[in-house]
Amino acid sequence: MDTAVNNPEDFSSIQQKYLMQCWGVQGRYDPIPVEKTEGCWIHTTDGRKIFDLRSAHECINLGFRHPKVIQAMREQMEKVIYVTDDFATESTAKLARTLAEITPGNPNKRVWFAQSGAAAVEAAIKVARFYQYNQVVKKGLPTTSEPHLYPYPYKIISRYRSYHGATAGAMSVSGDPRRWLQEPFVMPGVVHAPDAYCYRCPFNHTYPDCGIACVEYIDQMIELEGGSHKVAAVIIEPIVGSNGIIPPPPDYLPRLREICNKWDILLIVDETMTGFGRTGEMFAIEHYGVVPDILVVGKALGVYCPLTAAIFSRKVAKTFKENLFGHGQSYSGHALACAAALASINVLQEEKIVDHAREMGEYLGYRLTALAEKHRSIGDVRGLGLFWTIELVKDRHTKEPLRRATEKYAPTVVSQIAEYLLREKNIYIPADKFGIWIVPPLIVTQEEIDFLVDAIDDALAIADTEVK
Ligand SMILES: Cc1ncc(COP(=O)(O)O)c(C=O)c1O
Repeated sequence: MDTAVNNPEDFSSIQQKYLMQCWGVQGRYDPIPVEKTEGCWIHTTDGRKIFDLRSAHECINLGFRHPKVIQAMREQMEKVIYVTDDFATESTAKLARTLAEITPGNPNKRVWFAQSGAAAVEAAIKVARFYQYNQVVKKGLPTTSEPHLYPYPYKIISRYRSYHGATAGAMSVSGDPRRWLQEPFVMPGVVHAPDAYCYRCPFNHTYPDCGIACVEYIDQMIELEGGSHKVAAVIIEPIVGSNGIIPPPPDYLPRLREICNKWDILLIVDETMTGFGRTGEMFAIEHYGVVPDILVVGKALGVYCPLTAAIFSRKVAKTFKENLFGHGQSYSGHALACAAALASINVLQEEKIVDHAREMGEYLGYRLTALAEKHRSIGDVRGLGLFWTIELVKDRHTKEPLRRATEKYAPTVVSQIAEYLLREKNIYIPADKFGIWIVPPLIVTQEEIDFLVDAIDDALAIADTEVK
């Protein structure tokens, strides 16, 4: 054992030696020791104050250590932390009701709790298939003369630019390069669709003249994949997160909803990253007036506790009245995590934090857009609320990217920018994204936005040198 690891105070070296870092080459792991966290800031043991511009994996929408949430957690800990769902606890019951009420659609829903986005996505996929199975059984099993041998619809359509989690099923529906690390052991029955990515339209069209060809393509895909007999659900992030912060054109999601209705296919909306005010509405799907059949939420739901949920619409939930919900896990409905989530939703509402995110988002968007005038490396600036990205290119005309999908873990200009911002400006952003990631806690102030954008302005000089 080396001396640093022998010193119990040097927990950074202990962590470096014993912790398996997510998505990292362990020999390069170099964690920064933290003294405390406050608001948008991480204070290190050597006296630095670092702005967390990724909101702790987009979890701490309220900033670190909101006193009302901490108080609610303290009170809950004195009562009950966790019992199984054979018992009822006030925080779990009330959170399930609150989620049923504040999410789009008829409040007569049912909620299942997990601890990771991936686990909630797995539940959503499994339930979509159960639902379709129950429908087939209700209608009577098809005869063998019909064009399907497998007795119920099971295929899931997702999109290339998507991330839904790291477990086998969630990774299979992800399009993100991280899926390649799972292959070939992915879940059968997943088909990937092209994206609603106007800056790099997969059909080389321009919106709105395109007639939203990307969503019409999904209609064709469903038919060619066997239609209602074969396809169980479409899963989407309403605004793509990890794969580029890509809001779809305004009529894309309403049309996708129509297509799913036409084929009697469930629409699963994954708001793990976009939920709870991030985009300037409580849920991103509200920008588009669409009601999903299954909604997945996570990250900012529990703020300081791992808590996620799959929320089933009345139509889906009612099939389980007489049929088994064949799914579960320990810690589901954890009372302490639910108390934190309830308190967080109250704070979002009482302190009008979603309105604040919308206002600050407009200012952030205005400042970032202005940077595009100055920096040749900026291909596109896009976002909504406090969910923004700057996409970097080597050439504005050809749109040749500064980071390709195949370079996710290679050192690129984006990782150099992340290193520069951390080292020189005390700003933490992820190094593995496709552009610069601007996702601050929703409590960010206008002064903090100025500080962040000025620093990004300086950092972009690194990218400009790569421009042809
Ligand atoms: C949209 C989306 N879904 C699911 C997940 C997976 O969540 P978790 O990492 O909590 O499993 C993520 C994580 O980034 C996500 O962005």
